[in-house]
Amino acid sequence: MLLHYLVEYFDFKIFLIVFFVFLLLLDIIRNRNPPNFPPGPWPLPFVGNIFTELDFKSINKLAEKYGDVFSLHWGSEKAVYISGYKLVKEALITNQDNFADRPAIPLFNKVFKGLGVALSNGYLWKNQRKFVFTHLRSFGEGKKTLELSIQQESIFLCDAFKAEQGPFDPQIYLNNAVSNIISALVFGHRFEYHDENFQNVLRLDIEAIILAGLSQTQLYNAFPGLFNYLPGPHQKMFSNYAKIVEFLNEEIRKHKEDWDPSNPRDYIDSFLQEMEKRKSDPQAGFNFGTLVSAILDLFEAGTESSATTMRWGLLFMMKYPEIQKKVQAEIDKVIGQSRQASMADKPNMPYTEAVIHEIQRMGDIVPLGFPKMASKDTVLGGFFIPKGTTVTTNLSSVLNDKNEWETPDRFNPGHFLDDQGQFLKKDAFLPFSAGKRACVGEQLARMELFLFFTSLLQSFRISPCPGEELSLEGQIGFTYAPKPYRMCVTSR
Ligand code: HEM
Repeated sequence: MLLHYLVEYFDFKIFLIVFFVFLLLLDIIRNRNPPNFPPGPWPLPFVGNIFTELDFKSINKLAEKYGDVFSLHWGSEKAVYISGYKLVKEALITNQDNFADRPAIPLFNKVFKGLGVALSNGYLWKNQRKFVFTHLRSFGEGKKTLELSIQQESIFLCDAFKAEQGPFDPQIYLNNAVSNIISALVFGHRFEYHDENFQNVLRLDIEAIILAGLSQTQLYNAFPGLFNYLPGPHQKMFSNYAKIVEFLNEEIRKHKEDWDPSNPRDYIDSFLQEMEKRKSDPQAGFNFGTLVSAILDLFEAGTESSATTMRWGLLFMMKYPEIQKKVQAEIDKVIGQSRQASMADKPNMPYTEAVIHEIQRMGDIVPLGFPKMASKDTVLGGFFIPKGTTVTTNLSSVLNDKNEWETPDRFNPGHFLDDQGQFLKKDAFLPFSAGKRACVGEQLARMELFLFFTSLLQSFRISPCPGEELSLEGQIGFTYAPKPYRMCVTSR
């Protein structure tokens, strides 16, 4: 009897071992790299490099060890990371047709559903991207309306700063101000800085962006089926986005109520009009599902990015008061104190322009860009990248490339000035990325940064609060942002 049990037990153990070896072989065969695939750290069976941190600092360290083109296995997915100006340019510009698609990222697909602009692909993406460009152009970019709206918002922002009686954190004001520009374009109106409901939406968004960058949250991407049922930061992120979508749906509902097709007031109205026109072309995505994803895209991308850059800007101005003084001297010379800054002043303000560029370079707010996917087999830097591989272009490595910048680690507006003190364009300045997927809002963001920044420095001297240390070490989320800080302002 005992022998019988032992044999059975032994057989079962052998069966388990054989089964495990079989699965292991299957995993090795399935995940075998093709010849000339970029090198990378050895992946663990079944889970790959799941314990490798994916933030840009860890990616930079891996690039130092494995080279400017290296790979990681993430579950059963393969990902290639490209660093340095030369190769990033080759990926984004020379090979732009091969890297124009987005991979399906489960964490974001659950929220955006592969619709909208930033995460969609193919025909739908082309149509939605074109529609956003057309709208931005016809509702303001390059025209006076948008400039006026930013100038008007600058007055509200300066008033809010002035009303502060001591040390304060500028974050929520900056997010509100920047968000009001995109809100005017998309919803047709702005939100007051004391609107509790809107402030809550902005806070949910700020939190969701930090949560999205946590390694713990990104585990969801490896095992979405499992993590759907597990608690964790991903659930909090989903719940924040669900509340933001509720807020957006309410805006759409109000628009539908008083919609006049002959008089489109904003993006939502124009989209409703397009939905009527494009009924026979469902693949183009002009429907309510895409509308919510598209406005979430614009709201998200259009708020956090410019507001975070502004936060870096104010922080650098406090850290380097002598640079702040030089910007103010230029403002006083070109604009004075009796009128507001306008876009026409920009060509006459090379130092301010150089400082804003250096803020973007050092701020490095989207260090790894957004991931792409190879839509064709491609050879890059001598390595083979098969169709379907996720490709990340390391923008941070470009903005800090030792071959392109004189002092990559030091805040130095001279990077963007020639010997005569005139503004100097730099090819390696790629905070908005480049190529087919480059940022849709670049022109809008540049206008916002110039007008908000000059307005604030025209009105205030900005300084650290007595006894409070300022850190230039950022916080890694979906964007790279300054840690919360407080500042003091004095009217000039
Ligand atoms: C300082 C401000 C900003 C920075 C640094 C920035 C940066 C970026 C970057 C790096 C990308 C990824 C490009 C790629 O995949 O190669 C991107 C995409 C995008 N940005 Fe921005 N952005 C900013 C402001 C804005 C604004 C104001 C808007 C609103 C109109 C916007 C809308 C978008 C959209 C919709 C995409 C997705 C484009 C696509 O997938 O086709 N961004 N941005």
